[in-house]
Amino acid sequence: MTLTSFKCLIKEKCGLSFDDSREPILAAGIRTRLLRRAVSSHEEYLDLLAREPHEFDALVSLLTVNETYFLREPQHFTVLTEQLLPDIMAGKTGGRIKIVCAGCSTGEEPYSIAIMLMEKYGPAFRSMFSVIGMDIDEEALGRATAGVYAEHSFRGVPEHIRKNYFDRQDNSYRIREAVREGVEFLQLNIFGDAYPDTVRDADVIFYRNVSIYFEPAAQQHVFRNLAGLLSEKGYLFLSSTETFAHNIGILSLVEKGGVYIYSKGVEVRIEERRKPSVSPDRPAAPGLPVPAKNAAVAEKFKAMRIKDEPHTLFDKALLLAEAKKYDEALQLAERVVELQPSFIKAYMLRAGILLNLEKFGEAEAVCRCGMEYDPLCLEGNLLLGLLAKVRSDFAEARKRFKEALYVDAACWVAHFYLGEIYRFEEDEERACREFRIVIKLLEEQSSSGHGLTFLSFPFPVEQIVHLCRHNLAVRRGSGRSVD
Ligand SMILES: C[S@@+](CC[C@H](N)C(=O)[O-])C[C@H]1O[C@@H](n2cnc3c(N)ncnc32)[C@H](O)[C@@H]1O
Repeated sequence: MTLTSFKCLIKEKCGLSFDDSREPILAAGIRTRLLRRAVSSHEEYLDLLAREPHEFDALVSLLTVNETYFLREPQHFTVLTEQLLPDIMAGKTGGRIKIVCAGCSTGEEPYSIAIMLMEKYGPAFRSMFSVIGMDIDEEALGRATAGVYAEHSFRGVPEHIRKNYFDRQDNSYRIREAVREGVEFLQLNIFGDAYPDTVRDADVIFYRNVSIYFEPAAQQHVFRNLAGLLSEKGYLFLSSTETFAHNIGILSLVEKGGVYIYSKGVEVRIEERRKPSVSPDRPAAPGLPVPAKNAAVAEKFKAMRIKDEPHTLFDKALLLAEAKKYDEALQLAERVVELQPSFIKAYMLRAGILLNLEKFGEAEAVCRCGMEYDPLCLEGNLLLGLLAKVRSDFAEARKRFKEALYVDAACWVAHFYLGEIYRFEEDEERACREFRIVIKLLEEQSSSGHGLTFLSFPFPVEQIVHLCRHNLAVRRGSGRSVD
């Protein structure tokens, strides 16, 4: 029996994947458990695995990579304590601030957070913060709870930290009770969907050096799960090598103190979006009738004295959207199309807001309604492309972005997302070609000319060239042919 059935079961249950290079780890883990359980065949053991959750956990403990150490990527802890927490505290109305480590291994990461909190707030940190470490690996969690560490967990840790927060115990170091009590541990499979309430509404999540063991679909699934756990203004840290691989449009990427972090807050710059990519009052395309619903509404308003100027209302709607007053912005934008049914930008504004609100069906309907006036509308194609991408309908998304490029070959957004789609499809050559085009275009024009009225990008637009260069470098670094 080959290992394929084991690989499928493990991938299905906890997202971990075993390519050829990691297959020996899987084979050795299975051998160990066969001996321990006195089972003689792979078939019998597979059966046992499917039946006994505890056996599954025991095998997974042998397969996970638990490499970790205190204050790994120290700049993350500085940004956390110096920039994020003061902001979060200022906006918090009550309750403790919740910091969760997803894939905390043997505990060095959550304890690093607790130590930094204790440095800043003293022992009172325990009543101000709730620090929770979760991991699938029961054995690693046992070591985390014990809190005893050998020398290799301290690489790069300043001596005063070791002296102030640990007690020597033979050749090891035991974390002091004041810190240990500030951290809770929880066994949890982050690939599953059953997250307990204790980890919901998290203000900050650390999810570092875990996704590298998942394949792309599993990475997206877990990223979505964790994004769903975040509070309205929460932040998500990945390790610096993983960060850019997750810009799949769910969270915005923001830069703080030189560190890129995902944020649930929407960041939109209105002045960049106001410039219409098509004339707002462009007439219906020749031969196209005014859509029936809008014709009726137009008729209704013909009789009214139109006091409101559609363009002024549109600007107001845009400002409201920028202020995250989405309901009011949507109502006002709707009023604009009532007054002037061919005001395509107002449809696109509504579609963009609905897309941000993850009301994908409505966003598509509104977008298509606007495109009845101009089937070649650049923004309409971009929005339909983004909607298709969110739904993982990559064939449709590709078609839409190519359509956008037919309208405007210099549209960097279309090139960028085409690159992203090729990247997901592992078509490295095409992905890199698109990223190179984006860089070239943005060397000649500003990133703000992206043609979208209202949409939050999952990355800072002014960093787009950097992001494309990073994507190219990663591909070059991985030895894949990109030139
Ligand atoms: C390399 S360690 C990362 C430790 C720490 N986050 C850091 O950056 O130093 C990866 C951890 O992810 C955990 N892990 C892997 N798959 C998991 C899953 N499906 N659910 C929860 N934890 C998982 C492993 O057990 C392992 O302890």
